[in-house]
Amino acid sequence: MKGVILAGGLGTRLYPLTYATNKHLLPVYNQPMIFYPIQTLVKAGIKDIMIVASGPHSGDFIHVLRNGKEFGIDHLEYAYQEKPNGGIADALSVTEDFADGGSITVILGDNTTDADIKGDVDKFKEGALVFVKKVPDPKRFGVPKFDPDDKNKIVEIVEKPQDPPSDYAVTGLYMYDKNVFEYMRTCKPSARGELEITDVNNVYIQKNQLGWSELNGYWLDAGTYDTLLTANVYWAKKAGSSAVSS
Ligand code: TTP
Repeated sequence: MKGVILAGGLGTRLYPLTYATNKHLLPVYNQPMIFYPIQTLVKAGIKDIMIVASGPHSGDFIHVLRNGKEFGIDHLEYAYQEKPNGGIADALSVTEDFADGGSITVILGDNTTDADIKGDVDKFKEGALVFVKKVPDPKRFGVPKFDPDDKNKIVEIVEKPQDPPSDYAVTGLYMYDKNVFEYMRTCKPSARGELEITDVNNVYIQKNQLGWSELNGYWLDAGTYDTLLTANVYWAKKAGSSAVSS
């Protein structure tokens, strides 16, 4: 299994913090944000990794990550998303050659988690799997609607719903088989002009090929001032920092 970290986008919600560098290189306690998704993949045994970057600060990654050896990565590749805010699925589309007909585990570069996904990675065979997490504010996310007769089944993922069909968020961690690129090509950009990963996941649902797993640990995206601060506090506490009270 190969791994992909999507670190494109413009990080506009974090302006002016992202004027001078890429969102995923901002600090989350004692590490640049992108170290966390790298560690999640490496901990799951995924050591062949592609990072997709875009926007004006893409070159910054290589200064920080170099060839990834200090993380235990065997092989690190970089790719460039031409349209920096083309959407998560657009960023994923540039990894087709890297995936080379195999399955991939995908994580968004601003998602930090201490969950262990190795069990799911080892079990994964085909279709797609989304990692979900119970959240207090599902309206901000893609929200799974579960089959009332069979909780194991997601019947639809609704993007940022006014009336969320469950208390769960689809997190920025996914696993896909080789068909993801073909399915993606059937999707059209949404009203906000982005190729949406939720649409790709809904194609898997229509084909009855989408599974889910609940993340067994802390999870947060760090893409806004408040979530960036919350993530910093969480990881500082976990590291035993005396600067934050427990
Ligand atoms: P978002 O936070 O939705 O988008 P963004 O990073 O552009 O930030 P903002 O909304 O503040 O402008 O994206 C979540 C993650 O998905 C982001 O951390 C990186 C990845 N992503 C890409 O790789 N390419 C893209 O085109 C987008 C929109 C996101």
